[in-house]
Amino acid sequence: MPEASAVNKMFAGIAGRYDLANHLLSGGLDFYWRHKLALLVRQCRPLRVVDLATGSGDVVFAITKTMKGEAEVTGVDFCPPMLEKAEEKKRCLEKNQKWEPFLEKVNFVHGDCLKLPFSDGQVDVLTIAFGLRNLENRHQGLQEMRRVLRKPGGVLLVLEFSQPSAWLRPFYYIYLRWVLPVIARLATGRPEAYHYLGDTIGNFPPQAALTEEIRRAGFEKVDSRGLSFSIVAIHRAEVLAC
Ligand SMILES: C[S@@+](CC[C@H](N)C(=O)[O-])C[C@H]1O[C@@H](n2cnc3c(N)ncnc32)[C@H](O)[C@@H]1O
Repeated sequence: MPEASAVNKMFAGIAGRYDLANHLLSGGLDFYWRHKLALLVRQCRPLRVVDLATGSGDVVFAITKTMKGEAEVTGVDFCPPMLEKAEEKKRCLEKNQKWEPFLEKVNFVHGDCLKLPFSDGQVDVLTIAFGLRNLENRHQGLQEMRRVLRKPGGVLLVLEFSQPSAWLRPFYYIYLRWVLPVIARLATGRPEAYHYLGDTIGNFPPQAALTEEIRRAGFEKVDSRGLSFSIVAIHRAEVLAC
């Protein structure tokens, strides 16, 4: 698993162009994936949502839009330049009359997913999008997520890259190895960050194995669904017992 300080430094280096690179590299699919995640959050009717590894805050804003400001939504990240991008986006949206009333309950805090700045059982829904792959210790991170979720009934939603359908795999891995770094170099000037992306996607466990990891961290009712031919998957898990 990647080393935390290297991950932090890498995201600090690409923070300015992170959104652009995301939208280009996914062909815009990232909007759809985050929207799907936000719909699942809304189904839980939470009062308090925390988005981990929030980066530039797109999941926070997708949830806020979908829930029309009904839940308090906090984004957490350990990389200050990424958080600054999220705050900048919030300030921009506050100028828009449609958004302004929804943003009262949005905030961003500096924090580490392996040592979350919340007490036990405070959170109704936790989301983490494209963040679990970057944790130095996934098991510790998942246990920490379980600690802060409400018991019983707290829900964890993980949006992460997955292993795509068999027919797509050869094209996908050619894309990751050869095409993605070129687009990334043009968009961010830092192709090494996107070699890292390709490597971590290739090494990330497939849906069944991740389901098992989430269970091992103490979650129950774990299930998953692939999106876009399983290029990504959303795992949903609940905390039932104390
Ligand atoms: C690929 S970005 C995902 C950003 C956002 N969730 C999205 O959907 O675009 C991964 C983020 O995870 C953050 N991150 C990685 N490890 C972390 C940790 N241990 N604690 C907090 N944030 C972390 C990085 O700083 C980065 O902003």
